[in-house]
Amino acid sequence: AAVLTIALVSLATLAGCTGRDPAPGSSSSARDFQPGADGAGDEYFPKYGNGGYDVKSYGLKLRYDPAKDELTGTATITATATADLSRFNLDLSGLAVTALSVDGKPAQDSRDGTELVITPSAGLAKGAEFTVEIGYGGKPEPVKSADLGEGGFLHTGDGAIALGQPESASTWFPVNDHPSDKATYDIEVTVPNGVEALSNGVPDGSTEDGEWTTWKWSEQAPMASYLATLVIGQYRVVSGTHNGKPIVTAVPESLPRNGSAEAAMLFTAEIADFLETQFGPYPFDAYGGVVVDDDRIGYALETQSRPVYGNVWFKQRVNTDVVAHELAHQWFGDSVSIARWEDIWLNEGFATYAEWLWAEEQGRESVQESFQAEYDKTDDWSKPTLDPGRAEIFSRAVYKRGGLTVHALRLAVGDDDFFKILKTWTAEKRNGTAQTADFITVAERVSGESLRPLFDEWLTSPTPPKIPA
Ligand code: ARG
Ligand code: ZN
Repeated sequence: AAVLTIALVSLATLAGCTGRDPAPGSSSSARDFQPGADGAGDEYFPKYGNGGYDVKSYGLKLRYDPAKDELTGTATITATATADLSRFNLDLSGLAVTALSVDGKPAQDSRDGTELVITPSAGLAKGAEFTVEIGYGGKPEPVKSADLGEGGFLHTGDGAIALGQPESASTWFPVNDHPSDKATYDIEVTVPNGVEALSNGVPDGSTEDGEWTTWKWSEQAPMASYLATLVIGQYRVVSGTHNGKPIVTAVPESLPRNGSAEAAMLFTAEIADFLETQFGPYPFDAYGGVVVDDDRIGYALETQSRPVYGNVWFKQRVNTDVVAHELAHQWFGDSVSIARWEDIWLNEGFATYAEWLWAEEQGRESVQESFQAEYDKTDDWSKPTLDPGRAEIFSRAVYKRGGLTVHALRLAVGDDDFFKILKTWTAEKRNGTAQTADFITVAERVSGESLRPLFDEWLTSPTPPKIPA
């Protein structure tokens, strides 16, 4: 018996070494369909997004009744399998699935927390495009995170606001909820007559049917899911054209006419044009901004082509710095998106920098003064800008030290190469995703300088970095 065992082992070893086909009777000659992962692999948010496919487009047809706080909808999702899939997940928080098909055939669904698990009637082959149609509805609820606050769909007095970072989308539609999978969006929202419904991108008008009005919006540049927004309620909407593209701004009717929120929104076109001179062509097909008057929204968010601003920013003054910040994100964050949340300084560092550029443009502090003041103020260099930790993604180390890093680069390479780096970056990575190492590569290539030590020092060194001469 001992001799026989040795013979079998060496045969098996031989088969493995020569890469020979497995013995007949094993099942691996057929495709090996496996479940897609329940997360996109983000180190901070392991369950955000999913594996095994890549979404191309979301078509959302939604109806929201503010009186009942009831959302019903159909999501049509077109995607390509990136692996042989026996089943796959979408992210959906709350809300009940009422109908489901994959490529027109009924499919099975089950839920595991915020994971919607979909099993099609047959496996999806790697490379195949497939379409998922999901009917769903219910009373949407925001998602709460212990360290990052609340995100997602909020019922307001006269409507709703869907907003949040890093998580929001899964509270109002089934989604591959991670910025590494950007997609186009067509959003139709039906609300009671007399109520406005705003979203991302290009407006395609509104139509009335009985007691209901349907508003249509279309974002055809790939968009990260956290940048999708919905604002429903009583708004004064101003629509126009800027540089041949639609511009839509809106301010709640609860705020005074000609007040500071409205005045700040009026700066949208001017600031976008200024930033274009610094960063390269404006990346999207529409402009805009929406102010919301709700104490739960104590921030602004760079929702694609149409940022949403909590009115808290405009209570004291016509704050255009926040407008510069959110518009800068259209290039840094929205058009060029992060593939992992640990790179968020690539968004926030540049948005901070845009505030400094705008202040200088307006004849207030120079960029150099803003930089120096911030540098002098920084007494704790122990917190890294790159990979700050999940609870720190909105921290000073990301925003302010991120801005300092951007200016340190400028001081190191000089103005010509610096703005060439920014414009090369936004052009080459437009509509894509990127990581910190990619930015360093572009900066080194454009400047012809070795910059890794500079970035290491400014992004992660625990001691005060040396300001380049
Ligand atoms: N990215 C947004 C901005 O910098 C900030 C969002 C903050 N979100 C939050 N939950 N605190 O404009
Ligand atoms: Zn920001």
